[in-house]
Amino acid sequence: MESPFDVLSIDPGADDEEIDRAYRRRILEAHPDQGGSIREFQAVRAAYEEVTSHASRELSDPEHVEGGENADEEDGEDARVEYLNYEVLADHGWDLGDEDLFEKAADADLDTADYGRILVHSDESMLEAAENRGFEWPYACRGGACANCAIALAEGELSMPTNHVLPPEMLDRGFRLSCNGSPTTDEMRVVYNVKHLPGLDELRLPPRPFEQAYSDD
Ligand code: FES
Repeated sequence: MESPFDVLSIDPGADDEEIDRAYRRRILEAHPDQGGSIREFQAVRAAYEEVTSHASRELSDPEHVEGGENADEEDGEDARVEYLNYEVLADHGWDLGDEDLFEKAADADLDTADYGRILVHSDESMLEAAENRGFEWPYACRGGACANCAIALAEGELSMPTNHVLPPEMLDRGFRLSCNGSPTTDEMRVVYNVKHLPGLDELRLPPRPFEQAYSDD
């Protein structure tokens, strides 16, 4: 049986950067639409999780938390998150940069799938919280290797222990990955489903095989 290091094609002594780089390469190679398979993709993910959990490196290391300056202050607290589906913006002539975007959404009688509030527990990622409350937000890898789960921050902050794809300029513009990010502020406003925006669209993985795979779990 292959070791997780073999699956990732790295030396057991590889450092964090080498592990991340190898994972980024292998997760793309393993994608069914890139010649891989769901089984191979899941093996790569499992290998990465095993290697990184042995090192216990990211979740316990504040240097790996991007955009999480308030994490210490807010650790362990539930967060109230107001969410809005990016898809409804065009229908209403709204823009992501509108200062009163959420006020307009609150007055628009939107479906709860598109707009509402959820409480995110401290042990949940943003994506998990949405799913645990019955919503279907986009995702593909759940491992920080695509932009399918990206959200745009309008208020508040999200930790992001695993990010292999979002470059600094996208982080500066307020984009985060919801699949492994947890709120670090009591209140947040986020626009989800922003994966087709320029700069994110080209970082997406095709989602269908993974949605099917994980919905069967
Ligand atoms: S689903 Fe791929 S990084 Fe979140």
